[in-house]
Amino acid sequence: MPISIIEINNLHFSYDNKDEILKGINLSLDLRPTAIIGQNGAGKTTFVKLLKGLLRPSQGRIMLNGLDTESLSVAQLAKNIGLIFQNPNDQIFKNTVIDEVMFGILQVNKKIPKHLAKSTALDALKMVRLDHLSNLNPYDLSLSDRKLISIASIIAMDTQIIIFDEPTIAQDFTGKLLIQNIIKSLSAQGKLVISILHDMDFVADCFERVVVFSKGTVILDGPTKSVFAQKNLLLDVYLEQPHIMQLAQELKMDDNVLNVDEFINNFKNNNYSGGSKMKKALLIIDYVYDFIADDGNLTCGKPGQALEQNIINLIKTFQQNGDFVIEVSDNHDESDVYNKERTMFPLHCFDQKGCKLYGEVDNAIDKNQNYLKINKNRYSAFYGTALDLKLKERNVNELHLVGVCTDICILHTAIDAYNLGYKIVVHENGVASFNPAGHEYALSHFKNVLGAEVIS
Ligand SMILES: Nc1ncnc2c1ncn2[C@@H]1O[C@H](COP(=O)(O)OP(=O)(O)OP(=O)(O)O)[C@@H](O)[C@H]1O
Ligand SMILES: [Mg+2]
Repeated sequence: MPISIIEINNLHFSYDNKDEILKGINLSLDLRPTAIIGQNGAGKTTFVKLLKGLLRPSQGRIMLNGLDTESLSVAQLAKNIGLIFQNPNDQIFKNTVIDEVMFGILQVNKKIPKHLAKSTALDALKMVRLDHLSNLNPYDLSLSDRKLISIASIIAMDTQIIIFDEPTIAQDFTGKLLIQNIIKSLSAQGKLVISILHDMDFVADCFERVVVFSKGTVILDGPTKSVFAQKNLLLDVYLEQPHIMQLAQELKMDDNVLNVDEFINNFKNNNYSGGSKMKKALLIIDYVYDFIADDGNLTCGKPGQALEQNIINLIKTFQQNGDFVIEVSDNHDESDVYNKERTMFPLHCFDQKGCKLYGEVDNAIDKNQNYLKINKNRYSAFYGTALDLKLKERNVNELHLVGVCTDICILHTAIDAYNLGYKIVVHENGVASFNPAGHEYALSHFKNVLGAEVIS
């Protein structure tokens, strides 16, 4: 458990003893940089003013490092908590920038020599890149500069806890980046940084934890990614997800993506085409009774039977990942004397028993999701079938081959898959043949001639 710095129990507050603005807040704030979000009027500013001791709870308790803040004066609290106001005009009152920044330092450390207070103030102004404006009147500067000056004033006080109320207001991209770096650097120094924000992209980039306020209560609290994953709950309280997360969801990326780097990694690690993710398909070729069972009509026997569990495991993985499982098996017409594969070999795969998937493989497939069965009567699963069309409709570009026989139907299917441009993966523990030399030859052909990945 992270060590709690601020412990808030059943906090209630009302400005006028009539309307409750905060309705029983319970929170434990630790060193994780924490963002507070919520629609206008949710009570966020009121909450941080209570933490800072500028308002007193109507009910409940705020503990700071184990001490009840009720017992601490505003001056004592000021030594521990710095609050940068939402509106800098509410904070700034001195006639020069340097005096403004020095004011807080002199308040928390009355004994500090003036020259030291001045150099500390200038260091803080350097952090916000405004040291060159130190002798100007803050009210001659822009709103964004005044916000940065109010940030410098609080940083200069070197408090353990720093609370920002809407730090990105009026900031352009450079200003936001600067504030982001300040927040990260304060946090790296071991300070607790809390910030109220309306900019969700900024929250996603900077904060580990997010607390969502709505109408005076906390409705969500947790790691940034898991809070932002709650799209519907956020919409209910008029909040949106970070834009990059929305984009990733539009593209149906599997993972929740918080920032641009995560998006790029996810994009690179997966294949996307036409705006959606490319899928994989497991092709189970001829793994049917007649080819596998001891008394099958054209059995490959024990080597084929040994694949059963491996194929079951692959089926589960593919279906769990939302990929496809496609059964492609021989289905011959007993009377078709023109079909060579019917006449060159003993009669096989012509009835229900002979065409049924072998053993437990049939039961392992959830046939209600991402499953297809295709009949063939040539070696290749593609020849004379709709397989290519079905795969393209499903955005499949990667085929995983299992079944029998490695050097006959698997090989012919792999050759057609190669010609049609599919990425081919052959599972060595998922393919077998009655002919060991043929099996070995086909494995090397997949790798060396068809560019397939052969994995075990
Ligand atoms: N000094 C005050 N006196 C009376 N009511 C107030 C006062 N300050 C705020 N309120 C009311 O308290 C409620 C919460 O205000 P608060 O400023 O805490 O919300 P907020 O979540 O910070 O909103 P925003 O995102 O707009 O800054 C609002 O209804 C507001 O009108
Ligand atoms: Mg506010």
